[in-house]
Amino acid sequence: MTFENIKTIGVCGAGSMGSGIIQICAAAGYQVQVLDVNEDAWKRGKSLIEKSLSAMLKKEKISQQDFDNTIGRIKFSTDINQFKNVDFVIEAVFENMEVKKATYNNLDSVLKDDVIIATNTSSICITELSALTKRSDKFIGMHFFNPVPMMKLVEIIPAYQTSASTIEIAMQISKKIGKEPVKCTDSPGFIVNRLLVPMFIEAARMVEEGVATPEDIDKAMKLGAGLPMGPCQLMDYTGVEITYHVGNIFYDYTKNPYYTPPFLLRKMVSSGYLGMKTGKGFYDYSKKD
Ligand code: CAA
Repeated sequence: MTFENIKTIGVCGAGSMGSGIIQICAAAGYQVQVLDVNEDAWKRGKSLIEKSLSAMLKKEKISQQDFDNTIGRIKFSTDINQFKNVDFVIEAVFENMEVKKATYNNLDSVLKDDVIIATNTSSICITELSALTKRSDKFIGMHFFNPVPMMKLVEIIPAYQTSASTIEIAMQISKKIGKEPVKCTDSPGFIVNRLLVPMFIEAARMVEEGVATPEDIDKAMKLGAGLPMGPCQLMDYTGVEITYHVGNIFYDYTKNPYYTPPFLLRKMVSSGYLGMKTGKGFYDYSKKD
């Protein structure tokens, strides 16, 4: 497969990351075939895409024609057979080895031999994932950031056996869909999360120890370090359970106790304090629009 031959992109998973990826691929002119576990899941994804495009339309960042064309290029399905003719796959399913393994088995059973699979995993070893497929030379990490339509970066992470042409195609696709790619070796956290996750974990430790309130930690990092969002706000935005889960995975890979999530995060996750999506996290969103 060459970059020029890629016309249709298959995206597995239409959650918050998947829906952003679907949107930017379709906006860049690709036909996008989406696969999710059930109709409810892809309906939620579709509504996230419509909401994001509507915000852009309202602010005149895109025209009504762009809106219609982008939506018109996306096809949703729960049937893996719809992936028979896709030319490139981006996998953005749940961060769990078993779920990823089942997805790759399904993909290997229908994909053309020369199709590349890119995973959006934020925390699992890319080489371990590549070994679950029958195409480890055509497997790569393409890690996007939330909210995908706004964040310019994609981390490109080759697995141990990824071929040079797979890397080149992933770089070219990233640019075509409007992102700036950076390359990184397969290592825990890649670049961004290796720096971001310790900050999240330390911020949660500071809340637990009563060093400062979430409001003051966020204010300090916004006004003192120039971040657009403070760490507590950002954990609420991306999902508190993600920091908890990713911290545990990093500890598992490195055995560095610094990555161990503080007990506060465990309690928040067990209580459903996952952040904006559940209405409560470090902040209370239940009374806001
Ligand atoms: N779709 C379309 N437009 C969107 C959008 C979306 N999903 N989200 C925000 N916008 C637009 C807004 O409409 C707004 O447009 P205008 O400038 O025309 O008004 C613009 O983005 C800015 O939004 P806001 O004014 O509401 O707020 P803001 O200036 O704070 O920007 C932000 C929002 C871009 C999210 C910014 O706060 C930011 O960069 N935050 C940090 C995000 C971040 O660090 N992400 C990485 C998380 S970690 C991760 O993703 C890794 C992982 O593995 C999970």
